[in-house]
Amino acid sequence: MKTLKFYFTVAFFLCSIGLSAQKFEGLAKTPPMGWNSWNKFACNVSEDLIKETADAMAASGMKDAGYEYVVIDDCWQIGRDSLGFIVADPERFPSGIKALADYIHSKGLKFGIYSCAGDKTCGGRPGSRGYEYQDALMYAKWGVDYLKYDWCYTEQLNAQGAYRTMSQALKQAGRPIVFSLCEWGGNKPWLWAKEVGHLWRTTGDIHNCYDCVYNHGSWTAWGVMQILDMQDGLRQYSGPGHWNDPDMMQIGNGMPLNEQRAHFTMWAMINAPLMAGNDLRNIPAETLNVLTNKEVIALNQDSLGIQAFRYAVNDSVETWLKPLQNDEWAIVYLNRSTTPKTVTQDWKVFSVTDELSGKMVDTTGKELYLFRDLWAKKIIADTKKALTVTLPGHDVLALRVAKKPVRSRK
Ligand code: GLA
Repeated sequence: MKTLKFYFTVAFFLCSIGLSAQKFEGLAKTPPMGWNSWNKFACNVSEDLIKETADAMAASGMKDAGYEYVVIDDCWQIGRDSLGFIVADPERFPSGIKALADYIHSKGLKFGIYSCAGDKTCGGRPGSRGYEYQDALMYAKWGVDYLKYDWCYTEQLNAQGAYRTMSQALKQAGRPIVFSLCEWGGNKPWLWAKEVGHLWRTTGDIHNCYDCVYNHGSWTAWGVMQILDMQDGLRQYSGPGHWNDPDMMQIGNGMPLNEQRAHFTMWAMINAPLMAGNDLRNIPAETLNVLTNKEVIALNQDSLGIQAFRYAVNDSVETWLKPLQNDEWAIVYLNRSTTPKTVTQDWKVFSVTDELSGKMVDTTGKELYLFRDLWAKKIIADTKKALTVTLPGHDVLALRVAKKPVRSRK
C-alpha cells in the first residue's frame, strides 16, 4: 500500500511538472514585443515611470501595433526580508510591485521584471542565486508575465545549470512567464536554451549608435551594425517559441531617422524581440512612426518565424532576404556606408533558394511579382523592369514581394 502511495505521489508530481511546462510552450510563438527601461533610464526607475510608460504604450498606438510587455530592468530591488523574500525599493515603488502589475494589466498590457543568476545583479542589487524558487513564487504571486534573467556575479556557476534552475522554478511556480535569458552569448545559449526559455541574448549590450564600438573599461558595448554582424551563423537556432535576442532597441535615443529606420527594419528581419528602449512618454512623431510601422512589424511577426539571411554584399550595400507566409518574401537593401548608393536588381536573373527552410523565390519566369515599399507604403515596382533605386547613407529599402493576383491581371 505504501509503495502504491509512493508511485501515485511521484506520478502526480511528474504530471504537475508536465502540465505547468505545457503552459510555457506557445508563450512566444512570434518574437515578444514590448518596452524595457534599461537603455534610456538605467537605474533611474520608479513606479511613476513604469505607469506613465504603460499609459503611453496604450494611448500612442504602440499597443495597437503589437507591443505588450512593459519590463522594469535592473534596480527595482533593494534587499531581502528576514525570510529571504525579495523586497522592492519602497521609495521608488511605494505601492509595491503587485499593485504595479495590476495597473499594467488594467491597461491590457503585460508586466515584466528583471533578475540575475548571480549573487548580485549587474547594478549591484540582490541576485537570485540560491533564491530561485522563492523569487519565482514571488513573481507568480505578483502577476509577472516576463522575466529577464542576467548573468553578472556568476563566478563558479554553470550557465546551463543556472538557467535551467530558474526555468524549473518558474514552471513550478505555475504562472506562464516568458523567460528571457540574458547571458550575452558566452556559453552559446542558442545550442541549449530552446528547452530552457523563450529567447536568449546573443551578444553583449547594445550601445546607442549605428556603427561604433564603445569601450566601458571592463566591458564593451556594440553598435547596431556590430550586433547585426554578430548574428552570423545563428539563424538556424531561432524559430517559433525560441528566439535569438540581439538586445533591446535604441530607436528614439538620438539616432537620425534613417538610422532608426534601418535599425528597426533589420531587427524585424532577424526576428529580434522588438523591445523599445526609449522614453515613450515624450516620443517624437517620427520615432513613433518607425516603431509602429505595421508592415515592417509584420515581417518580424510572420507566423513561419524564419530569420532573414544576408544574401549578397555589393559596394557596402547588403541584400537581406526573409521567406514569409503565403510564399511571399521580404527583400531589404541595407546601405552600410554614409554615402548614397545606387541599387540595381535585374529580376530576369533573380532566383534564390533558402537552404535552411527550402523556400524559393524565382522571378525569372513569366509570373509577375509586385514590390511593396514598406516605408513608402506603396507598390513601387514589379518584375517587368529592373529595379534602380538610390539609397541614402545608413538607410534601407524594405520591400515585400508577392505574386500579382491573377484576377487583377490585364
Ligand atoms: C546587463 C544587461 C543589460 C541590463 C544591465 C542591467 O548589462 O545585459 O541589458 O539588463 O545588465 O544592469
